Amino acid sequence: MTGARSRHLAQCTRGLEAVLADELRALGSKSVSEVAGGALFAADAELACRATLWLRSAVRVLEPVGGGRVGDFDQLYELASRIRWEDLVGPRHTFSVHATVSNAPFTDRHFAALRVKDAVVDRIRARRGSRPDVARHDPDVPLRLIVRGEEALVFRDLAGDSLHRRGYRPVQVKSPLSEAVAAGLLLLAGWDRASPLVDPMCGSGTFVIEAAALAADRAPGYGRSFAAERFPDAAPALWRELRREARDRLRPRLDFALLGADRHAGAVGIAAGSARAAGLADLVRFQVADAAVFEPPFAPRLVVANPPWGERLGAGSELVASWRALGTFLRRCPGAVAWVLSGAPELTRHLGLRASRRWPLRIGQLDARWLRYEVRPAPERAATPTDRGS
Ligand SMILES: C[S@@+](CC[C@H](N)C(=O)[O-])C[C@H]1O[C@@H](n2cnc3c(N)ncnc32)[C@H](O)[C@@H]1O
Repeated sequence: MTGARSRHLAQCTRGLEAVLADELRALGSKSVSEVAGGALFAADAELACRATLWLRSAVRVLEPVGGGRVGDFDQLYELASRIRWEDLVGPRHTFSVHATVSNAPFTDRHFAALRVKDAVVDRIRARRGSRPDVARHDPDVPLRLIVRGEEALVFRDLAGDSLHRRGYRPVQVKSPLSEAVAAGLLLLAGWDRASPLVDPMCGSGTFVIEAAALAADRAPGYGRSFAAERFPDAAPALWRELRREARDRLRPRLDFALLGADRHAGAVGIAAGSARAAGLADLVRFQVADAAVFEPPFAPRLVVANPPWGERLGAGSELVASWRALGTFLRRCPGAVAWVLSGAPELTRHLGLRASRRWPLRIGQLDARWLRYEVRPAPERAATPTDRGS
């Protein structure tokens, strides 16, 4: 990862790197390069905080605090001991270390994390006379170690809790789409943020709510706080200014429709509740309907859908029926573009449409595709004798 030691790293679901890089460029970063599962970018403190508040497709924004080559655990400990932890972890702060290790001289990521933890504790105890505690849950300073080959990088995680947690969704939701993935897929679809959109299998409403947030220019982090706000070197005035700017940018009204439907009334109730919690309820509509018979009250330009395909929902013919119903619905939307998320090629054929584009993604542990379909425009109505006569 060229220049990785001095650049921030934003992480995302595999397949969304290009949209994440575009988001970073739009935020003003000059030096952005895609890496597997993320993008490296040059940032000062302001841009790093802005990215944490505004990135829609990212799950994490990591600030580099040290790095170098390591051949074994002792070298890792030495590398981590050279980092000025006394400036990065406050006297009453807790911290945690999460490690990922790939193609490295060692494979035990838990022990790698432990060595970095020891280095933090030993260095701070030597300088302050007291040691910081480790917290598994909600640490003040979450640290991340990434070892690829012999290159070890140490970061502070500016977000803490993953950025997909926008703060509007109840914890208990069955088979939801991650908010960051939904936003990334909308960006990938090239939606203009200004034309009518329908999700006919909306479940807990993630696509529709993220579409509303995009169109209303609502910062994805508007309703939550971040670990970086508690860091010893946090800049409260900067965060206040960024939040004020985010509030000023919010558009209270949209002049086009965003609609979600699902046959499951419970899911629709959750979707409506989440839209209220996000402050976006006035911009979206949800209704209970089966896609097989659902007639949208307006002509959507974009249809997005995440029909059931994973291991956690339904089985066999029930899944086939859902995909057929989606195909039937799409044929009722002449001229629309549809993007459909699928991890099961054997199901997509039941749409009865041919994809014009297939974008590979890795969602959780599953390979998936974001598939684009162009629904044929309605045939021109043949002129009737009455038309001619009038
Ligand atoms: C994978 S979930 C969608 C998750 C959603 N993207 C979210 O953010 O929560 C699939 C959804 O399709 C819905 N569904 C399946 N068949 C349907 C049909 N024929 N008509 C309407 N909804 C259907 C299910 O009720 C379920 O909520």
